[in-house]
Amino acid sequence: METIKIPGVPVNASRIGLGTWAIGGWMWGGTEESEAISTIHAAFDKGINLIDTAPVYGFGRSEELVGKALAGGRREGAIIATKVGLDWGSGKILRNSSPARLRSELEDSLRRLKTDVIDIYQVHWPDETAAFEETAKSLEAFRREGKIRVIGLSNFSPEQMGRFRKSATLATIQPPYNLFEREIEKDVLPYAEKHGLVVLAYGALCRGLLSGKITAKIEFKGDDLRKVDPKFQQPRLGHYLEAAVLLDSFARKRYGKSVLALAVRWLLDRGKIIALWGARRPEQVAPLNEAMGWKLDADAMREIDQILSETIKDEVGPEFMAPPPSTRVLQTNGESS
Ligand SMILES: NC(=O)c1ccc[n+]([C@@H]2O[C@H](COP(=O)([O-])OP(=O)(O)OC[C@H]3O[C@@H](n4cnc5c(N)ncnc54)[C@H](OP(=O)(O)O)[C@@H]3O)[C@@H](O)[C@H]2O)c1
Repeated sequence: METIKIPGVPVNASRIGLGTWAIGGWMWGGTEESEAISTIHAAFDKGINLIDTAPVYGFGRSEELVGKALAGGRREGAIIATKVGLDWGSGKILRNSSPARLRSELEDSLRRLKTDVIDIYQVHWPDETAAFEETAKSLEAFRREGKIRVIGLSNFSPEQMGRFRKSATLATIQPPYNLFEREIEKDVLPYAEKHGLVVLAYGALCRGLLSGKITAKIEFKGDDLRKVDPKFQQPRLGHYLEAAVLLDSFARKRYGKSVLALAVRWLLDRGKIIALWGARRPEQVAPLNEAMGWKLDADAMREIDQILSETIKDEVGPEFMAPPPSTRVLQTNGESS
């Protein structure tokens, strides 16, 4: 397993991190506890040591399962990345980075994760009704108390990160990034490079589209988000699947690898990046090592771009996932109500 240093985290991080949104069940058509725990164990047995979760994933369920899976000897050496700042109390998912919400979520996450320190604590979505300066100061206070090790931001623009960084040291960012979702190349990725931030790229497999297993006939169960994901609707789905097939034959011919390994390798070769690979069944992490120990050259990067430009006719990003902005009001004293 290749590793990368995140300043402030005592152990080096694996360049593939396990994403546990699906393990929480919510928006993925449910999950099963023993499979979820076996998946986490299988990922760690294959050399992963970074695990990404969030309170909102299954409304505490994903964090609880991570806590359970790591209890009994696996916590040491593991890097837990979780998030803060989404509120589901009203029945809707709302952004809420008020100081009181940050504090209560921190204590809940520590309890569910069965740990006394969170390695990477990330604001999940920017909440413009909370003053970023206050949010940054709250997180710095958690760090001084020893309850978190480093601070991360997810889904923030460079301008928003700039405002936040005036009052806190930022170590990592977590934007969407994969072969089919490259919006961050315009501004977020250059910003990360300039400021030495490690990127935890989410949706490494584009919600399975880059796994090589999805066909036009696939049906999703229950509340699975792919029922409404614009990429999974025709005629777009056909374009993305055609791209996946062509990328697969390119990867096999050139490197003897699958499209899944190509998708992860491509991410790792784009910068100081950790690929967050979402999985909920142990067999899904079996091909993990196929992405390790090789590199894409400039020529391959160009051929990949060529395949993408010839197949993806009506590009769309992951914007459908964004929770609505908060309706709380920012008062002049920086508090929100
Ligand atoms: N910060 C944010 O706002 C944000 C947003 C999204 C995600 N994330 C993080 O990023 C992580 C990864 O993103 P993601 O979970 O959305 O999606 P992803 O990694 O792009 O795709 C995960 C899905 O791909 C399928 N898959 C995985 N391995 C496979 C294999 N070997 N063969 C076939 N299919 C396979 C599985 O779908 P099935 O189980 O249905 O087969 C799995 O649930 C999340 O878990 C979360 O930690 C963060």
